Amino acid sequence: MKLSKRLQQIEHMVTADYSHIWDCCCDHGFLGAALLSRQAANTVHFVDIVPQLMAELNSKLCQHYPNSRWQTHCLDAASLPLADYEGTHLVIIAGVGGDLIIQFVKAIYQQYPRLNIEFLLCPVYHHFALRRSLIELEFSLQHEALVEDNQRFYEIILVSSAADITRKISEVGDKIWHAKSVQQAEITANYLDNTLNHYQRIQQGNNANVQHIIDAYRSVKLS
Ligand SMILES: C[S@@+](CC[C@H](N)C(=O)[O-])C[C@H]1O[C@@H](n2cnc3c(N)ncnc32)[C@H](O)[C@@H]1O
Repeated sequence: MKLSKRLQQIEHMVTADYSHIWDCCCDHGFLGAALLSRQAANTVHFVDIVPQLMAELNSKLCQHYPNSRWQTHCLDAASLPLADYEGTHLVIIAGVGGDLIIQFVKAIYQQYPRLNIEFLLCPVYHHFALRRSLIELEFSLQHEALVEDNQRFYEIILVSSAADITRKISEVGDKIWHAKSVQQAEITANYLDNTLNHYQRIQQGNNANVQHIIDAYRSVKLS
């Protein structure tokens, strides 16, 4: 199964050696399966809340990965049993709203405040709110990327629950605005335009005051 551009980028951002990788909200498990294929962790855990999805995935994994270390968990992503597994953890949450990701990250961190957990996050919508919550939690930034896939833009953020003042998270992003190719420069410029237009429409609708968000995105310098 060929991964979408978005999932490929997420997969590329898994570079450290982890004992456990948790592919949360895994749906058909494409991302976790790619990580399993290249043995990115001792154990890859597949987590989704829909029982039928997990039953189907379980039988596919038995068939295609009989000798690899994986586990399926039919669970709410807010209740990962990290303490039952020794070692380092990477929690991946992608393809759901940023508001839901905030709930999951806060719940997991509250349960395991002393564990050093890495989170690789790719929300649909609510990037600003997610970044703000990560800043409030005093997490630190490891890496971030911007990808365009099927005419939609996605920010992908790798953070650690350990504070590090030299690795601060920006509420609008930092590295994502620095392009290394002409094609990527076009993507960053379009994304900035889209984002500003989105918040300007909200501001004009008079239902919410988002001027501080508009000001923050206006201060972004593309390079
Ligand atoms: C659109 S899919 C995302 C699939 C994949 N992660 C991706 O990025 O392409 C969203 C998945 O989230 C799952 N989901 C929704 N709420 C959940 C929760 N509270 N805990 C675990 N999984 C959840 C749904 O069942 C669905 O399979």
